[in-house]
Amino acid sequence: MGRDFIDLWNLDPEEAWYIVRRIAKVKGGEEEIGRPLEGKNIALLFTKPSTRTRVSFEVAINQLGGNCFFLQENQLQLSRGEDVKDTSRTLSRYLDGIIIRTSSHSWLEEFARWSSIPVINALTDKSHPCQILSDVFTLYEKFGEEVKNIKIAYLGDGNNVCNTWLVGAGLFGLNLFVATPEDYGPDSYYLQAGLDLSNFTGGNVYLTTNPEEAVRDADVVYTDVWFSMGQERDPEKLESLRKFQVSDELLSKAKESVLVMHCLPANKGEEITEEVFEKFADFIFTQAENRLHTQKVLLEFLFTQR
Ligand code: CP
Ligand code: NVA
Repeated sequence: MGRDFIDLWNLDPEEAWYIVRRIAKVKGGEEEIGRPLEGKNIALLFTKPSTRTRVSFEVAINQLGGNCFFLQENQLQLSRGEDVKDTSRTLSRYLDGIIIRTSSHSWLEEFARWSSIPVINALTDKSHPCQILSDVFTLYEKFGEEVKNIKIAYLGDGNNVCNTWLVGAGLFGLNLFVATPEDYGPDSYYLQAGLDLSNFTGGNVYLTTNPEEAVRDADVVYTDVWFSMGQERDPEKLESLRKFQVSDELLSKAKESVLVMHCLPANKGEEITEEVFEKFADFIFTQAENRLHTQKVLLEFLFTQR
């Protein structure tokens, strides 16, 4: 019982909107969530650091009545070369679900292929679906149904978060402008998925190498680190990203009411200036808080589906 959540396209638009609207109602106390994970054992297997994703999932599982525990890769036989498929088949016999953060997206897909329990992607090199689901909720909380009409700009590296934003814009029918350097653009598969979904939902996904074009009259400017976990700090990449820094100067092209988002952790002085970060800190930490509200409704949804 239950469903995988490896990429945002594992939800259809109706399901995705149901989740976002339910998060609003549960957070606002209008609807109860109860303890749908009572008696369930869910593990977190993370091979990369995490503050928000790990802690929000652990708290969410506890609040929903489930039992969770953290698995360290170096203490599993995986670290001695045990097959992914054997690890997956074994853990499926003990657990009710598993939440995985790892480098290789294809490794996660292989794990999920062999698993008979729900597998949730807590970040890979390609995607971070829990993050963008939560971020769409944060925008919905702010703009309500108008969220479909605002202009969202993503600036910086074409990384896992950027890839997932493209799919998220397609899934929810949002207007997204992505500005990255030519050599550091998003993954073409995720871009195509975003475009295909947009055709169904009425979303708009644009790609540019001009940060000003993306930011012009934007309602929301979103950024993420220029060097993701595990990436080398390549000086050439640093140089080509400089003009994508979210600064007061760049933001002066956006709407006066512009909001700035960051999935965190931030590397202030690179993708965002300290001044801009502090000006929008309250919103950015609400964005972080919403990870918890989102995980709860997402877990309820995934674990109560046949
Ligand atoms: N945004 C995010 O996923 O944060 P962590 O790396 O701290 O989990
Ligand atoms: N792109 C970042 C996101 C961290 C939440 C990384 O992969 O490190």
